[in-house]
Amino acid sequence: MADEATLVFPQSLILAGAGKMGSALLESWLSLGLPGANIGVIDPHPSPALSALAVQHGLTLAPHPLIAQVLLLAIKPQMLDKAAPALQHYVDGRTLIISILAGKTIATLRHHFPHAGAIVRAMPNLPASIGLGITGAVAGPELTQEQQAFATTLLGAAGSVEWLDDEALIDAVTAISGSGPAYVFYFVECLSQAGVALGLPQDISERLARATVEGAGGLLMHETGIRPAQLRENVTSPGGTTAAALEVLMAQNGLAPLMEQAAQAARKRAAELAG
Ligand SMILES: NC(=O)c1ccc[n+]([C@@H]2O[C@H](COP(=O)([O-])OP(=O)(O)OC[C@H]3O[C@@H](n4cnc5c(N)ncnc54)[C@H](OP(=O)(O)O)[C@@H]3O)[C@@H](O)[C@H]2O)c1
Repeated sequence: MADEATLVFPQSLILAGAGKMGSALLESWLSLGLPGANIGVIDPHPSPALSALAVQHGLTLAPHPLIAQVLLLAIKPQMLDKAAPALQHYVDGRTLIISILAGKTIATLRHHFPHAGAIVRAMPNLPASIGLGITGAVAGPELTQEQQAFATTLLGAAGSVEWLDDEALIDAVTAISGSGPAYVFYFVECLSQAGVALGLPQDISERLARATVEGAGGLLMHETGIRPAQLRENVTSPGGTTAAALEVLMAQNGLAPLMEQAAQAARKRAAELAG
């Protein structure tokens, strides 16, 4: 979560698209203290929850055209062509555009918003909805220091941000942290199935697997100074049960090459979907 001392809020922010990810970001900004009066939200069908937030925090829904300091795009990627013309009214050379649209490159965004000041392309992930997201971000060349601070504050509100120098690496971010939560959910399924194969009742095995991943995740968050490999070694006694299992997982054809193959498949698909 962003450090309060480094928070830099824009005076005028337009959020385009208040679906799952847009709403998660919006709620994180409000809980961080970004004044609702600074925020306009554009969404064709505001949910009851969004309407309630608007009343509670003084957000403007469907704001009249104004030049925003930041326009954050959280619509579906395939909606960009249709949405961009109406959004031009909020953009001029002072506006930072932050896009979380999967696969939409900075060049494509620039094509849609030729008059924008700067563009940041970001890839958040699902745990943003509980404030534990991580976002990879890359900036076009025009980004000012103040705009980078806006982007770090807004994207970091729902977790943390990693800035990258090379846009090509965004597809790798998608393959690791973007798609990663699903890999972990699948790991829980596999661990639970393994328990059933050893004779545990299905429901108990699933609770054991789930709580183990939650607890191990909690330890990773708590022990941030200790590398994962060290945490693993700390719980692996030579000749013990964990070591026996890790010998299988860490074999030459074990989890590492499989994980690499999976991440490469995700990156390839991200590149295919880009445009
Ligand atoms: N969900 C994730 O975990 C995740 C992770 C990384 C990146 N992303 C990116 O985040 C973006 C949003 O994903 P999402 O899962 O939040 O999708 P979503 O729930 O479908 O939200 C999109 C929202 O945009 C609204 N919208 C449609 N046309 C619009 C327009 N012209 N102007 C303004 N708003 C418009 C939609 O309204 P209607 O439903 O009424 O059409 C909907 O409320 C996507 O580009 C995705 O690539 C999502």
